[in-house]
Amino acid sequence: MIYELIDVDKLFRSKSQAVKILDSVSVKIPEGKITVVSGPSGSGKSTLLNILFGIEDVTHGEVRYRGELLEEVDDLSSIWRTDLSYLTQVPQTLEYLRVRENLEFMNPDSELIDEILDKLALSKLWKSYPSELSGGEHQRLALGMLLVKKPRTLLLDEPTANLDQGTASKVITFLKEVQKREGMSLVISTHDPKFLDIADLTLSIVNGKLTS
Ligand SMILES: Nc1ncnc2c1ncn2[C@@H]1O[C@H](COP(=O)(O)OP(=O)(O)OP(=O)(O)O)[C@@H](O)[C@H]1O
Ligand SMILES: [Mg+2]
Repeated sequence: MIYELIDVDKLFRSKSQAVKILDSVSVKIPEGKITVVSGPSGSGKSTLLNILFGIEDVTHGEVRYRGELLEEVDDLSSIWRTDLSYLTQVPQTLEYLRVRENLEFMNPDSELIDEILDKLALSKLWKSYPSELSGGEHQRLALGMLLVKKPRTLLLDEPTANLDQGTASKVITFLKEVQKREGMSLVISTHDPKFLDIADLTLSIVNGKLTS
């Protein structure tokens, strides 16, 4: 088990009201497997991933990562550096480096970089800067940066949202390949039914409840 959530509530309070985004969520997320989380827009998928990454607090309940309470981890940055990575909905890349240099920055393994450029259909763009890429290309670069880093756990927020069906299928196949090879744990939020083919566990968020 990589994560355990016990009776987690998440409330967002505005001036006029409090909205419960997660309501008594208890779940165990398996290690070395692919867990897919679906749910309508606004249901709390990104909020859940933010919580799993340790950048959002819960209102009530416990979140354990490898048995340790996330809120009690005093050196989250060392976990982020080596163990746990997060592809956010807005792609994070280094704007002043070219595509290939962005990958090299994460890990200078040139063989793996060549494979990633090829499988993510970025080979021809190796010299481009992120600002010269389309939305989907930029998202694939951000994904490639995390794959080249080879974290043990990778959280992915709608990784194929900006891709056409064909490109999305290729990316999903490659994700599965890397996950299996490296024994990574993946938690993926998505609307894309193609992810169901590679999922070991599927969860959905409906009205704050997480069901499998
Ligand atoms: N910091 C915040 N303050 C107040 N409300 C928030 C905050 N972050 C998210 N919310 C609200 O929580 C709800 C869930 O947001 P979240 O981004 O987790 O949804 P999502 O399932 O990822 O949606 P999408 O599929 O559109 O990405 C939304 O109604 C959103 O407005
Ligand atoms: Mg979201």
